[in-house]
Amino acid sequence: MQTKLSVNINKIATLRNSRGGSRPNVLQAAIDCQRFGADGITVHPRPDERHIRYSDVREINGIITTEFNIEGNPREDKFVQLVLEVKPAQVTLVPDDPGQLTSNHGWDTIREQRYLRDMSEVFSKAGIRVSIFTDPVTSIIEAAADTGTNRIELYTESYAQHYHTNREAAIANYVTAAQTATRCGLGINAGHDLDLDNLGYFARMVHGLEEVSIGHALIADALYYGLENTIQMYQRALRNH
Ligand code: PXP
Repeated sequence: MQTKLSVNINKIATLRNSRGGSRPNVLQAAIDCQRFGADGITVHPRPDERHIRYSDVREINGIITTEFNIEGNPREDKFVQLVLEVKPAQVTLVPDDPGQLTSNHGWDTIREQRYLRDMSEVFSKAGIRVSIFTDPVTSIIEAAADTGTNRIELYTESYAQHYHTNREAAIANYVTAAQTATRCGLGINAGHDLDLDNLGYFARMVHGLEEVSIGHALIADALYYGLENTIQMYQRALRNH
């Protein structure tokens, strides 16, 4: 299986928003990311629109031909309405608070199972693939399977944090989590803090990995290597590990 690289372009919007105006142009960046080899585009609209704006999401939807993935918290009615209007290939449900700097935990799929089941149904009925952001914990993934979601997205912050000290220990929970997901019939995505150093080993060890979504490190690397080179470098890291 070829793992897809979805480029999260929130950081490009953050740079634009820091000055107002339209530089860098977020729409053009989405087009170029896919031209440079991205298999998908990810956006994470937050209620205060401090990164990507709702209007960006609507515009991008009309112009990209690769997979569009919208992440966010379905507790925001505005988010649900946007996703149902845009109908992306995938919605990734993330339990982040409105003002949170970035996502920092997965769902408690045991406690929130009924809610997640209802939300999965809403999006599935609209023909949108559903993915639920989870920590690499067996009971959490087993409970995710009972929500009707198609996939989970493994939250990789702890892997990334421990990769350089002990990568075998850092990956262990993710290998088990992927086996659990596969046994439960769930597809596997992953994201957060993945970079050129840690991506290859993750993709080699986590079997059945369908998609990674990467933003912060990739956009930071693009300052040095350029966007086109950087996307190719991430693609190589995914394929030649
Ligand atoms: N997945 C989710 C659910 C996220 O919230 C983010 C960050 O917005 C990412 C993946 C991408 O993480 P990073 O920007 O560290 O690559």
